[in-house]
Amino acid sequence: MSILVTRSSMPPFEEYCEEIKELWNTRWITNNGEKHQLFQSQLKEYLHTPNVTLYTNGHLALENVIEAMCFPKGGEVITTPFTFASTTHAIVRSGLTPVFCDIKFDDYTIDESKIEALITEKTCAIIPVHVYGNVCNIEAIQQIAEKYAVKVIYDAAHSFGVTYKEVSTANFGNASMFSFHATKVFNTIEGGAVCYSDSSLVQTLNDIKNFGIHGPEKTLYVGGNAKMNEFQAAMGICNLRHLDEEIRKRKLVAERYRQQLSDIDDIKLIAEQENVQSNYAYFPVVFEDPLLTRDKVFDLLREQSIFARKYFYPLTSEFECYQMLSNADSSKTPIAKYISEHILCLPIYADLSLEDVDKICEIISGFHRKCG
Ligand SMILES: Cc1ncc(COP(=O)(O)O)c(C=O)c1O
Repeated sequence: MSILVTRSSMPPFEEYCEEIKELWNTRWITNNGEKHQLFQSQLKEYLHTPNVTLYTNGHLALENVIEAMCFPKGGEVITTPFTFASTTHAIVRSGLTPVFCDIKFDDYTIDESKIEALITEKTCAIIPVHVYGNVCNIEAIQQIAEKYAVKVIYDAAHSFGVTYKEVSTANFGNASMFSFHATKVFNTIEGGAVCYSDSSLVQTLNDIKNFGIHGPEKTLYVGGNAKMNEFQAAMGICNLRHLDEEIRKRKLVAERYRQQLSDIDDIKLIAEQENVQSNYAYFPVVFEDPLLTRDKVFDLLREQSIFARKYFYPLTSEFECYQMLSNADSSKTPIAKYISEHILCLPIYADLSLEDVDKICEIISGFHRKCG
């Protein structure tokens, strides 16, 4: 049987059926229904955060919060190219220009020491990514944002369940976006949320995600449709009950990988961050050996029906659709380029057996012995 890079977490079938049963009585299946409201309040409690707005997916959550915070259009946003397409697309689709900053070699998050040099009078925001659930340098980024009066919107798509100094990543910057996509540690099938401290944004975000409609006869924004429906919210309510257990099981998988791979030369595992409680969302490995290359390992695993992923390759600044941008030159972000060409995310999910982890590691270490 094949092993995919991830496998969606699902509650027991009966538990989900029980949760959605009453929808057949109420016939209220979207538009801020009871499940939506309950899930929203559960998230506020779980994340210890004052405001949560729910979305049909993380990408639209990001687009909507950018629209609410980066007005007027036309400004520049400092971000990294080492991310999923969504981060850069959300900036460009919002009428803004991405300015690419390099990442750090140890945790692949934005290199805060390189942000200031990229700030211009057009900069309106910084959108750093807690890539793989690794937490950006929150304090340094906040200092820069305050110095230049720019907004910080975290792409926290990977970091649900992650805490820094015991505080959820929902609570940093002006806003944080989570993805609840099926492939994430916590899912609502598709889904997402924006968490933020400024309560005056609640109404704006609710309006923007519902066609800009403010009241029965009043439409304030050129909004779209990004509402989370009741079936998604019900999945969230169920999956939240099992989240701690999911993370505990992922931790065992990650520890097994570490045990098996840490002694192999030229294989770089991601360092555990200080003061961070991880969600073990991904298991990225950097292959630095000129013989044991990322692409060879990828192919070798695929021959055995093991599907690792080249996350994130290519860089978003290398996408065909961004070649018209004057700063889409990946040689200006050399660390991001290097990591992107050498990294492979190995399969990790709660139910991945330790025997399967051993099998994956044996393929890698066997090849390493052969190369050596
Ligand atoms: C870094 C990052 N940002 C944004 C998104 C978009 O989230 P969604 O798939 O929920 O739209 C993803 C999704 O996979 C992601 O990995």
